[in-house]
Amino acid sequence: MGPILEVADLKKRAKRRVPKMFFDYADSGSWTESTYRANESDYNEVKLRQRVAVDMTNRSLATTMVGQDVSMPVALAPVGFCGMQWADGEILAAQAAEEFGVPFTLSTMSICSIEDVAENTTKPFWFQLYVMRDRDFVNNLIDRAKAAGCSALVVTLDLQILGQRHKDLRNGLSAPPKFTPKHLWQIGTCPSWCMAMAQTKRRTFRNIVGHAKGVSNLSSLSAWTAEQFDPTLSWNDIAWIKERWGGPVILKGILDPEDAKKAVDSGADAIIVSNHGGRQLDGAPSSIRALPAIVDAVSDKMEVHVDGGIRSGQDILKAVCLGAKSTYVGRPFLYGLGTQGKAGVARMFEIMRTELDTTMALCGERKVTELGRSNLYSAFGEKF
Ligand code: FNR
Repeated sequence: MGPILEVADLKKRAKRRVPKMFFDYADSGSWTESTYRANESDYNEVKLRQRVAVDMTNRSLATTMVGQDVSMPVALAPVGFCGMQWADGEILAAQAAEEFGVPFTLSTMSICSIEDVAENTTKPFWFQLYVMRDRDFVNNLIDRAKAAGCSALVVTLDLQILGQRHKDLRNGLSAPPKFTPKHLWQIGTCPSWCMAMAQTKRRTFRNIVGHAKGVSNLSSLSAWTAEQFDPTLSWNDIAWIKERWGGPVILKGILDPEDAKKAVDSGADAIIVSNHGGRQLDGAPSSIRALPAIVDAVSDKMEVHVDGGIRSGQDILKAVCLGAKSTYVGRPFLYGLGTQGKAGVARMFEIMRTELDTTMALCGERKVTELGRSNLYSAFGEKF
């Protein structure tokens, strides 16, 4: 298949190695997938300003996220079920992120538990919280993340109700999976995936099973998950979450300047401009298009991060130029995992680092922290 030069190469390989239902689970958005597609394609509307004959030695990609040092402005986004791309995927991705010097965010809906990841890493990682109806369970999750030494809490606000994802429905993918002969055939045609999976006992949602009331196995988990996302979640909930947690709180899923202002009032430390990778409100703007107005509204009061559609270091640079302090990637690291496990995630980081560093140099800049709109020629019809 040739060398792995860009994220698209990892995607092609992951598609061949991972059973179709699990690959599609990653590579899908809600309804028509228009927001999912726009998340990627809108980056083409941001044009860079080329500068020449500038001293480009001693470049630095280092910055901070909620006060924590990162080697470049990217973190791994929380992704549920990511252990289905490669056995123990959450642990492997966390290790790759740790070695690269950027945060890994463990999803509430992950296969490996908070404790599994903590036991297999040496530095703090971040935890993503879904607010469930069972508040005892939520409090306990927060306490477990604290006990495991997690250093930031990402609270996801855009999934009180699940967006409909046609690919998953057509594939008959449920959480937890109920395997039909079609699924078994798909799995059977992916021998290297099966071999890796056979070597782990971590195959269910271990943050939940054995911790939530009445959830002791796969079938009780399915019923519990279906009714637990809390439709009553409100801005008032951020205060008790923040108090119980006691560390940096990042609110994920902000796409509107009015909500960004409410996030400031809630006392959160940062927001992630996000539409859940196009998996929730199809028809919403891409996150890069939504970013500038949100930055203008609140970036003097809190850190603004962004995710959705970032497929290269160039995209990271564009987001930072438009005012994001940092970015997150979801699918790119899933494609890395699906291709080569931990080595694939490491490869994704290397690719993005080179792309970001080269692009920054060709824009005539040496420090990622000094990038701004002045490095852009135009974006979304506005000329800078
Ligand atoms: C997600 N995302 C997500 N977000 C979250 O807060 N909790 C979760 O459990 C999940 N699960 C999840 C599964 C899969 C398969 C995907 C692709 C995404 C959303 C994720 O954190 C992030 O917002 C997007 O993935 C960003 O878009 P890109 O980088 O995938 O384009």
